[in-house]
Amino acid sequence: MENFDFHVTTDIRFGYDRLDELPQVLNTFGKNVLLVYGGGSIKKSGLYDKLYELFNQNDNHVVELAGVDPNPRIETVQKGAQLCKENAVDVVLPVGGGSVIDCSKAVAACRFVSGNLWENFVLKRSYNGPALPIVTVLTLAATGSEMNGTCVISNMDAQIKLGVHGTSLLPKVSFLDPTNTYSVSSYQTAAGSADILSHLMENYFNATPGTEVQDEIAEGLMKTVIKYLPLALKEPDNYTARANLMWASTLALNGLVGKGKSGSWSCHAMEHELSAFYDITHGVGLAILTPRWMAHILDDDTLPKFQRFAEEIWDVKGEEAKRTAEIGIQKLYDFFVSCGIPMTLPEVGIQTEENFEEMGQRAVAHSSISNQGFVPLHEEDVVSIYRAC
Ligand code: NZQ
Ligand code: ZN
Repeated sequence: MENFDFHVTTDIRFGYDRLDELPQVLNTFGKNVLLVYGGGSIKKSGLYDKLYELFNQNDNHVVELAGVDPNPRIETVQKGAQLCKENAVDVVLPVGGGSVIDCSKAVAACRFVSGNLWENFVLKRSYNGPALPIVTVLTLAATGSEMNGTCVISNMDAQIKLGVHGTSLLPKVSFLDPTNTYSVSSYQTAAGSADILSHLMENYFNATPGTEVQDEIAEGLMKTVIKYLPLALKEPDNYTARANLMWASTLALNGLVGKGKSGSWSCHAMEHELSAFYDITHGVGLAILTPRWMAHILDDDTLPKFQRFAEEIWDVKGEEAKRTAEIGIQKLYDFFVSCGIPMTLPEVGIQTEENFEEMGQRAVAHSSISNQGFVPLHEEDVVSIYRAC
């Protein structure tokens, strides 16, 4: 295990009926609020009206940044940063999934960034400047953005999607009410859980030795997602299922299972190119890529970890090592299929291979997968994995 710092200060308010605490939380930062949300799910679910009742009682001055797209765009960040400047916003309040939270993080930082935000914020990849305080109300269990300092922003004109990390981007407070995820569609529920699993697997399949704590926690969280996703799909308002998925999403990417390890995330690097070129759902792209990536890198060196994955997660027993590993990979694929996830690129609208080489080059250029991956991946590996999808 390597040396690490673990200092994740987000104040988590987990559970139902906690929103009455929001006014008091907002007041610690000020009265002027930028409310950020997506395409309107919060209006359908009634959350929007509940928020305005609280804002009115609390004399908040609220400005809205609405219509944040999945795979949030730099143009929306620009608009939000401008609203913050014009309205002397004190606190940014994203109410939504990872896209809304990520966009809000970028807005909170870009309030203090001048000039071209794509060049001066996103392309830097790491941000050391100030940001407005961020308070989140999470409505979809997936990214872990509610308790980490990362945001992922897209430039659709340039077909580039990149992550930026900064300690000031860490939310100050996050409200995690599982009942706010009852209205998430089956498709987004499954995609979100595939993202959670991917965060765990990206950390788990890693070459740093001696990380038993992280690996055992990751296994426990993977088993939890595999247990509760089918239940959430069958009974969307099952509190236990939604609560376990929500807390798993947070713990999968707040550093708990990733600290103490070095390396690069292979499937995320490849998926970000799929999203940048084709604007697909992040978790679905990961579900499609992951079993193919696993099959591509399975060899004598990686076999022990894949064998452990098959035995611990999928309860594969009584087969020789390589066969055990292969069955584990197949079980992951079958699980995604059983949860209704489209498992090929043509099914998500990617019909031809015309961009694969460029996407392969960019996946390598935008990340360190070619020298720090669990198994290093070069352009030709990435293209071959895309072709297998
Ligand atoms: O826009 P609205 O109307 O809210 O609808 C959204 C959206 O269409 C809907 N939704 C969210 N909550 C809902 C709901 N629908 C009904 N009821 C609710 N309660 O779900 C759709 C997808 O939302 P989105 O926020 O895009 O999903 P997700 O949370 O999966 O976020 C994906 C984004 O996060 C990035 C991804 O790359 C992608 O851009 N990631 C962020 C990370 C981070 N910050 O650490 C790490 C991840 O690996 C990931 O890259
Ligand atoms: Zn992800």
